[in-house]
Amino acid sequence: MTHGPSWWQRGAIYQIYPRSFADSDGDGVGDLPGITSRLEHLAELGAEAIWLSPFYRSPMADFGYDVADYLDVDPAFGTLDDFDRLLEEAHARRIRVVVDWVPNHSSDRHAWFVESRSSRDNPRRDWYVWHDGDGNGGPPNDWMSEFPAVGRAWSFDDATEQWYLHSFMAEQPDLNWDNPEVEAAMHDTLRFWLDRGVDGFRVDALQRLAHDPLLRPNAGAARRHDQDWDTMHDRLRGIRRVAEEYEDRMLVGEVALQDMHRVVSFLNNGDQLHLAHNFVFCELEWDADAFRVSIDDFEALASDRAWPAWFLENHDRPRVASRFDDGTGQGAARARAALLMLYALRGTPFVYQGEELGLPDAEIPPDRVVDVDGRDPERAPIPWRPPSAVGPGAGFTTGEPWLPLSPDHRERNVALMAQDPASILTLHRRLIAFRRRHPALSVGSYHPVIEAHNDLFAYERRHRDERLFIALNLGHEPRRLPLPDETARGRILLSTTGDRDDEAADESLSLRPDEGVIVLLDPR
Ligand code: NOJ
Repeated sequence: MTHGPSWWQRGAIYQIYPRSFADSDGDGVGDLPGITSRLEHLAELGAEAIWLSPFYRSPMADFGYDVADYLDVDPAFGTLDDFDRLLEEAHARRIRVVVDWVPNHSSDRHAWFVESRSSRDNPRRDWYVWHDGDGNGGPPNDWMSEFPAVGRAWSFDDATEQWYLHSFMAEQPDLNWDNPEVEAAMHDTLRFWLDRGVDGFRVDALQRLAHDPLLRPNAGAARRHDQDWDTMHDRLRGIRRVAEEYEDRMLVGEVALQDMHRVVSFLNNGDQLHLAHNFVFCELEWDADAFRVSIDDFEALASDRAWPAWFLENHDRPRVASRFDDGTGQGAARARAALLMLYALRGTPFVYQGEELGLPDAEIPPDRVVDVDGRDPERAPIPWRPPSAVGPGAGFTTGEPWLPLSPDHRERNVALMAQDPASILTLHRRLIAFRRRHPALSVGSYHPVIEAHNDLFAYERRHRDERLFIALNLGHEPRRLPLPDETARGRILLSTTGDRDDEAADESLSLRPDEGVIVLLDPR
């Protein structure tokens, strides 16, 4: 029996940040029925799957990444019935549903933590990481929160006179994964959603799941002790075994590490993650060499069992159109080129809601700032329709949106861009459709072109007889580059500028600044 690629290898996975996608009840906060009502947009885009950021019960200190009940939906987002309906409607459109899973920490309001902090001899005391201070009134060690504004990763509990660990906010105490009862309870939360029919999980803050059980200090620059401890691999194998109790489910890890060896270590044996979000790639400058080297490193270090995944935006990162804008207004063109690159790489593309619109970061006035870590700009609500047609909420809400919309939402909204053949939304739909039609793009091999000019990032994708040549100019000057074989002929199938489709490319190819093209090479 021959196997085609799995669903999570085939197409694009689209991230939804539920608070900011679509609001069905006018309270200014997006919700699950809102998502269900907008599934057509995702079907038209051609998304293979959606990944939903957390919608569980939460006091919202970290907007849902502080979970007070892993087994229920927060009333702000709807009900479990709303979730089941969303799942059913998505599946009816052949869209898979991946949900966020936050295993490293719960909310401080979770019943487990309420018990754990109630006394030193509570049976759940050891479900979290408690410790005496350093003897001088300070915390047990030098570990820091991931959020600079929070400072130390420890808070003192007056009632029981010990410190508890929190890798993020004080409202997000770390669960103690060295305790097998915790591991078993968390596995059961996976089964709860698997039984409901979800297709996979995005594992939050994965690298923090395992730390030095002796809590030794980092004592210097290298963060050896507070994350990515060796127990990580066994922990992941346990999670993978739970996923494999069910058919065809997928685990993608948020591997926020800058060492590619570590990223592939969770993929190479085929017994841990299926996919890893690659933070090395997402931190790169707009620089052809940087992209080439990063991709080549992955290809070199990955085993045959490891499948790449690429992303450039999410709810924690500045948007591409802003991040790659160098002040000369190039952000919009670069957002288009970045999309073409993403869809033409070997590996699963992850896109973040609004990336299909080329949304820039929103401007957040100081009195509207709500996030502890400066991430409000990329979390601005999705503009669905022109405000002139539906009011100032732009089809996201009939009320007051919880965050301001991005500045250009009058022109940059789904309804207007869907009708515009030159829009980035149209380009995005074409890229997804194109990837479906051309196996060289979805499953073909990857061959970098090394000798190209520094401004140029070029590579080939090959499958059977089909050869596609992808070239991007990341510099400020027009450039010309030879096709891979000296005598080759080709035809441009798709360009980010949209005005070169079907253009012949004989022996060489010209590229404007921030332009990307896909060229079909003659099979002779
Ligand atoms: C990573 C999530 O993407 C981020 O939004 C969150 O604040 C932290 N993990 C903590 O859960």
